[in-house]
Amino acid sequence: MARTRMVRRWRRNMEVLDDTEYTTMLATLSEGSVRRNFNPYTDIDWDSPEFAVVDNDKRWILPATDPLGRHPWYQAQPVERQIEIGKFRQANVAKVGLQFELILIRGLMNYASWLPNGSPEYRYCLHESVEECNHTMMFQEMVNRIGADAPGMPRVLRWLSPFIPLIAGPLPIPFFFGVLAGEEPIDHTQKMVLREGKSLHPIMERVMAIHVAEEARHISFAHEYLRKRLPHLPRRQRFLLSLHVPIVMRVLCQAIVVPPRSFWKEFDIPREVRKELFFRSPESRQFLRDMFGDVRMLCADTGLMNPIAKLMWRICKIDGPPSRYRSEPQRGHVVAAA
Ligand SMILES: [Fe+2]
Ligand SMILES: [Fe+2]
Repeated sequence: MARTRMVRRWRRNMEVLDDTEYTTMLATLSEGSVRRNFNPYTDIDWDSPEFAVVDNDKRWILPATDPLGRHPWYQAQPVERQIEIGKFRQANVAKVGLQFELILIRGLMNYASWLPNGSPEYRYCLHESVEECNHTMMFQEMVNRIGADAPGMPRVLRWLSPFIPLIAGPLPIPFFFGVLAGEEPIDHTQKMVLREGKSLHPIMERVMAIHVAEEARHISFAHEYLRKRLPHLPRRQRFLLSLHVPIVMRVLCQAIVVPPRSFWKEFDIPREVRKELFFRSPESRQFLRDMFGDVRMLCADTGLMNPIAKLMWRICKIDGPPSRYRSEPQRGHVVAAA
């Protein structure tokens, strides 16, 4: 009996046609994907001379918005070394991004395969997958051209990655929180770098601008998906979820933002520097907190912030005030791909 109820609830979760506001939002996002999309090989002129990766190009030096880039240890290194580290670090961020997107695509496929006929979510999930496929090609091309053999995520996560998308079918809500845990930090860091205005290598600049422009839709979808479902969850489930969310945010963010062990070894970076950067110094703590203002807002608005959940956010060191609106505070504008 309980099982039938569970299955019924799971099916009902996928019926959205009676919610006009939600279906209109999905239609807008889908139309946006048709009108404004990028192809990694026609919208980026990889073979033009200005895109060439050449030795001693200072534009690969890490920007000050990167925690390592602004660290005195990094800044005291000889220029060639700063360039080498910068190339590896930026290639690794792209590799992590594409590995995360490969998980996301597989999850979206799992979820979409259960959707009933006529569901507008089907179309949008597929649009998003197409865009993510393009992003993975774009990021891999960038890694190949930089020429640093970046491993991406920590090894444990790479091994776990085939299993994570399996939850998207039976447990879409925790899955979409996982999506936010990956997309928010990547998007936040890319926007910060673009806004800093430092002269970047054209590959980096173009790839990031395209990515930020398309991610805006993906993040909107994940937020709206959750906003629609969370308030109707049974109390107990909502409570469990409220404790699970900060943990997922912290764990995934850590995997995405912190370079893997091989990076520190390869460049012989002192342990102290690593500890300070991730996340002992006050600036790095703030950087960590700032990434999740929008998720805290989502949780506060949908009944996922109770005293114990707040404590959990604090233990995970990502507590703080919720944003007042999406992309607040310094993130007021979305940098559009030219
Ligand atoms: Fe993406
Ligand atoms: Fe995305």
